[in-house]
Amino acid sequence: MLSEKWETNVLLLIILFSSASGASIGINIGTQMSNLPSAAEIVSILKAQQIQHVRLFDADNQMLKALANSGIEVIVGVPNDQLLQIGESQSEAADWIKKNVAAFIPATNITYIAVGNEVLTTIPNAALVLVPAMKFLHSALLAANLNFQVKVSSPQSMDMIPKHFPPSTATFNSSWNAIMNQYLQFLKNTEASFMLNAQPYYSYTKEQGIFPLEYVLFQPLKPNNQIVDPNTNFDYLNMFDAMVDAAYYSIKSLNFSGIPIIVTATGWPSQGGASEPDANIDNALAYNSNIIRRVLNGSGTPSQPTTSISTYIHELFNEDLRPGVDSEKNWGVFVANGTALYSLTFGHLAETNADSIGLVGLFCVANFSADSSALKKGLDWACGPGSANCTAIQPGQPCYEANNLVALASYAYNDYYHRTQASGGTCNFGNTAMTTTTDPSHGSCIFAGSSASGSSAGTTGSLTPGSAFGPVAAFSWASRLQVVSTLQVASLLPFLV
Ligand SMILES: *[C@@H]1O[C@H](CO)[C@@H](O)[C@H](O)[C@H]1NC(C)=O
Ligand SMILES: *[C@@H]1O[C@H](CO)[C@@H](O)[C@H](O)[C@H]1NC(C)=O
Ligand SMILES: *[C@@H]1O[C@H](CO)[C@@H](O)[C@H](O)[C@H]1NC(C)=O
Ligand SMILES: *[C@@H]1O[C@H](CO)[C@@H](O)[C@H](O)[C@H]1NC(C)=O
Ligand SMILES: *[C@@H]1O[C@H](CO)[C@@H](O)[C@H](O)[C@H]1NC(C)=O
Ligand SMILES: *[C@@H]1O[C@H](CO)[C@@H](O)[C@H](O)[C@H]1NC(C)=O
Ligand SMILES: *[C@@H]1O[C@H](CO)[C@@H](O)[C@H](O)[C@H]1NC(C)=O
Repeated sequence: MLSEKWETNVLLLIILFSSASGASIGINIGTQMSNLPSAAEIVSILKAQQIQHVRLFDADNQMLKALANSGIEVIVGVPNDQLLQIGESQSEAADWIKKNVAAFIPATNITYIAVGNEVLTTIPNAALVLVPAMKFLHSALLAANLNFQVKVSSPQSMDMIPKHFPPSTATFNSSWNAIMNQYLQFLKNTEASFMLNAQPYYSYTKEQGIFPLEYVLFQPLKPNNQIVDPNTNFDYLNMFDAMVDAAYYSIKSLNFSGIPIIVTATGWPSQGGASEPDANIDNALAYNSNIIRRVLNGSGTPSQPTTSISTYIHELFNEDLRPGVDSEKNWGVFVANGTALYSLTFGHLAETNADSIGLVGLFCVANFSADSSALKKGLDWACGPGSANCTAIQPGQPCYEANNLVALASYAYNDYYHRTQASGGTCNFGNTAMTTTTDPSHGSCIFAGSSASGSSAGTTGSLTPGSAFGPVAAFSWASRLQVVSTLQVASLLPFLV
């Protein structure tokens, strides 16, 4: 008995520990495609990308079967068109759980049911059955003894919050107060999370010019463009954090607390029509790689600093059959044949090691004949989305060489290559890179993979801080992206100090 109790305590400790830093990144898998890959092909893409969390919009049984024993954690969805049936009948709900959840557990690690999607804002006539459907499904889980493994929630649109900024004054549209009260009470009672679809892309494109693009893409703001909530004095570094905080404050305004938020959709389209210039590969890559970095750093928002924000990127594939404007069809990171449109790293970057043992004596360096703008792009990519450790090429550090783009890019390319080669990273960088066995290390500037040992204490004497292309910061993309310096809407000016 004693030892059993001891075990329970250890288990509890472990659970608490992992939830304190357990932010995860997942991806949504929409399937409105003319040539959808097979479930097995989808799972092999997920595995190759080391993606461990997915959200399905339905409970496709082929997909759930293919996900069995994959170690991938799954949110299944009740599509909006099945909501009415389930919300009106406990037995329909029990049947749904039996066929789509119980039949696959434990081989398939289903942990959440997302009931409908943005129900209140997209199919308001089904609003009254939303919470009953959630309750019926939960009762069915309870009856099947699955209520500890599987939780029930329902993704809400940011459109539920008419005014997001400043976050401290945000509230849900009061037309929905009665239902939101029931919804929040249900989440509270069942210890489930609030699911939020937070899409800065829509806010940015709708309110063109109010907020700078850097703010939306998690890039550094100009010093005179800080975005501050005047009531709390919280400094918002990016729109994503402000949106999540707006939802926390909206929950608080209905007198609920202690309900964590999972972001069930956020992303950026890589292509759009002629009138959608912000939907492009550069922005999609910047947004998605920076959201991964943001989430995996484990921190919360300014108002909830210790609550990390598990997040699902929207989405795995471009969905060519989705209705709407061109950008709607282009939120995917991959096209149907499995080709990546741009390269993201989903794993936990801090865990990768710069010194892959097999690579000692092999280096990835910049081709000195490469075009300098292509090198600049490669360098930005390596230090930004590629997550190379670029500390050593900052001004004042041993490998910094003012105006020597080839030297800087070589360091960054090589660091990236050594970190990622074991998991498929390549030495390419838009054809500006090549491998060599000649060790580029010099003085105290030691490249990953070098057999040279010793410390890198001193700095070389030739440092000129403030080079032509500026310090190599992790997010130096900003320099080549549109910069909105004038914030045009008077009502927002007070928040920009
Ligand atoms: C399912 O996922 C949860 C949450 O990540 C994890 O704690 C659990 O160990 C997983 N179960 C299995 C069988 O993999
Ligand atoms: C609030 O929701 C109601 C009902 O859907 C809608 O008619 C109204 O326009 C919304 N108000 C705002 C400010 O969005
Ligand atoms: C929340 O609680 C405060 C203080 O108890 C009360 O004044 C307020 O009316 C409550 N608000 C709601 C929406 O229930
Ligand atoms: C994590 O992200 C938050 C929000 O963007 C930021 O304030 C914080 O400095 C980051 N922490 C680390 C360790 O990078
Ligand atoms: C995959 O599709 C893309 C665009 O549709 C195309 O450019 C590429 O060549 C295809 N790749 C393969 C391996 O079929
Ligand atoms: C370096 O770049 C030049 C110009 O683009 C190209 O001709 C050459 O083949 C490249 N060298 C290597 C080793 O890739
Ligand atoms: C990055 O490199 C610097 C030395 O250049 C080192 O001190 C630091 O620990 C490295 N950081 C990580 C996260 O590897």
